[in-house]
Amino acid sequence: MSLMKEVAGRKAVDYIESGMVVGLGTGSTAYYFIDELANRIHAGELTHIVGVSTSNETTQIAREKGIQVISLDQVNQIDVLVDGADETLRTFSGIKGGGGALLYEKIVAQNSRKVIWVVGEDKVVDELGAFPLPVEVVQFGSWKLFRYFEQAGMMPSFRKSGVDSLFITDAGNYIIDLHLGSIPQPNQTAFELNNMVGVVDHGLFLNYPDVIIVGKEDGELEII
Ligand code: 5RP
Repeated sequence: MSLMKEVAGRKAVDYIESGMVVGLGTGSTAYYFIDELANRIHAGELTHIVGVSTSNETTQIAREKGIQVISLDQVNQIDVLVDGADETLRTFSGIKGGGGALLYEKIVAQNSRKVIWVVGEDKVVDELGAFPLPVEVVQFGSWKLFRYFEQAGMMPSFRKSGVDSLFITDAGNYIIDLHLGSIPQPNQTAFELNNMVGVVDHGLFLNYPDVIIVGKEDGELEII
């Protein structure tokens, strides 16, 4: 339970109107958004809402709360996507993928007219990279990529699921987390990763959100 996550997540429902196609983010902050969205639907304050999910986990949560979820390919466009972030600059770029859903999150974001990030104030940073940068890679040849990252000094680690097994994304890929410490040139880093064969996507979301809702420890809000 985190008040700053909760106030940010619940506030984002103010941006939703009846009849909208709503992108449903993944993680503990997006959870509060989904919960509040379900509350308003059940109260009759919002009608004809359709959700498009960013992960299997979110699909399950939303359906359990009675929100209709359909696939991205069934809609023309998403009106508003509300999602969390692991780090964000005030200049509308950040790192996502701490929950392992970065690929579907980015695909849904690219198909959304408006993207809102909901974060606690501890996620707002002056420079990206203290949070390990997730890189989603196909399983085949993933150790080769790992060794490349290692030799390049990018401090990789395979994302684990439990003690023995590797984390597998909803798309069936592995995640290699890069412990970079700082990312002084995010565009350059993104460009390099985008051009590596075997890399499916990465957690650098550059110029994605239109609005960032920041929850404070005392329950106050800041809208960026
Ligand atoms: C999942 C994500 C999440 O949005 C991000 O990890 C933030 O999660 P939380 O709101 O639980 O801190 O990118 O892939």
